[in-house]
Amino acid sequence: MDFEIVNGSIESIEADCIVIAIAADGELSDSAKAIDQASSGAISDVVASGDFSGKQGALLLLRSLPGVNAKRVLLAGVGAQSERSIIKQQQLIKSAVDTIKTLGVKTLCFALDRISGNSDDIYRDTRTLVEASSAALYHYDTTKSKPAPELTLEHIHIHLPEADTEFGEGALLDGVAIANGVSTARELGNLPGNICTPLYLAEHAKNLADEFDNVSCEVLDEKQIEELGMGALLSVGKGSAIPPRLIVLKYQGAEDPNDAPYALVGKGITFDTGGISLKPGPEMDEMKFDMCGAASVLGAFESVAEMNLPLNLVTIVAAAENMPSGEASKPGDVVTTMSGQTVEILNTDAEGRLVLCDALTYVQQFNPQAVIDVATLTGACIIALGHQATGLLANDNELAAKLLDAGEFAGDRGWQLPLWDEYQPQLDSNFADMANIGGRPAGTITAACFLSRFTKEISWAHLDIAGVAWNSGKAKGATGRCVPMLTQYLLDIAEQIEA
Ligand code: BES
Ligand code: MN
Ligand code: ZN
Repeated sequence: MDFEIVNGSIESIEADCIVIAIAADGELSDSAKAIDQASSGAISDVVASGDFSGKQGALLLLRSLPGVNAKRVLLAGVGAQSERSIIKQQQLIKSAVDTIKTLGVKTLCFALDRISGNSDDIYRDTRTLVEASSAALYHYDTTKSKPAPELTLEHIHIHLPEADTEFGEGALLDGVAIANGVSTARELGNLPGNICTPLYLAEHAKNLADEFDNVSCEVLDEKQIEELGMGALLSVGKGSAIPPRLIVLKYQGAEDPNDAPYALVGKGITFDTGGISLKPGPEMDEMKFDMCGAASVLGAFESVAEMNLPLNLVTIVAAAENMPSGEASKPGDVVTTMSGQTVEILNTDAEGRLVLCDALTYVQQFNPQAVIDVATLTGACIIALGHQATGLLANDNELAAKLLDAGEFAGDRGWQLPLWDEYQPQLDSNFADMANIGGRPAGTITAACFLSRFTKEISWAHLDIAGVAWNSGKAKGATGRCVPMLTQYLLDIAEQIEA
């Protein structure tokens, strides 16, 4: 999709459809007023007739208004100021695009004025328009025999006052970069496990290094993983015919290549059967999404490279397939991690923390300023937070606050859970330094407690995206969360560096 900022009087805009905002009780936005005047009161007639009240999320399509150049005008209800939010804004834009894309519209123009209700927020509104439209237009057909028919929609214009054009264009570029990262994460997530294997993720990372001058990639194979003493990562991959990989991507955006990098670490279980602690059959197909942590760190990495942020970034993916076989790990097996600590594998289905702990040890050689791991780690996180919030746990509350703020700003929200010492004894083992499971209570927290034993020396946060990484049911598919949160966090850091 091609996005562009446009100016000029609303009624004279050449587009197949213009989207304008109506607030609660039929209050017209500036653009709606302009259209109303040009059309001798067509909009106020619609409101007065009771056909459209401006209720949050409501849409009404009008055609061929007199005095208006655009063929269609889509009224979009933004409700009362108090009920607006970034999430509602995303939903409204998505449903507007969903409506439009079924019509013969080639050029769509958003003239929503300031739907956030915050006059300073042209940057955020513009980005939201780009990101939410892109999300609505993403479509998966990579493994279908025929692609879906092409959409007629080719251009999305965003109408801004002339004085805000330059500012809007910056926002547009950031929005496109983030939307691209989200699409990448969705695509990787949606690919089936027989295609998106650890080797496939490694190829994807290598392609990123080819695409950008300041990106390099190194892929460690099974032998190198073994030589590094990563017994935990190895133990997860060994039941599979497809070997594990540790993928290391480096982006140099800071002037000084020796500036301490920020680091992202992703869980890349390309299929999670549970291993010998086999999962039940129903919905097991969804465990192809168990690499969505990897997908989001790769997506965020791509966005950062595309925006050319002035910082250094290391991204690690711990990729493996968790399968049962004669060579698979068994409950009770004890493995030695790269850190030297030993782990009793009481449940082979708690494999995410096993691959992550070695990646978290490995990443410390880069002396990162902060490390954020992302994983579809626990079903318990879905019970705790449902499908709205990413679970966030951290050993550094300042880092946690920055991530929460970034998520709030980008409309990709997280919620913090405690990482108190008092939970740690749930991981006690009679046969190793720790067990890989902590019982039913607080499953998301004890999983993070496990990881915290490998991150004592660093500023670290953990994002559990089990509840948000994909949708089930009819709309089954990856969401690309938490690419916006991660990217926003890094954008915020870049802004500080530039200031
Ligand atoms: N990948 C799963 C977590 C998961 C399950 C995410 C369902 C999304 C939906 C993870 O590897 C896992 O199996 N975790 C176990 C841990 C348990 C054995 C301590 C879980 O959550 O049941
Ligand atoms: Mn599992
Ligand atoms: Zn898993």
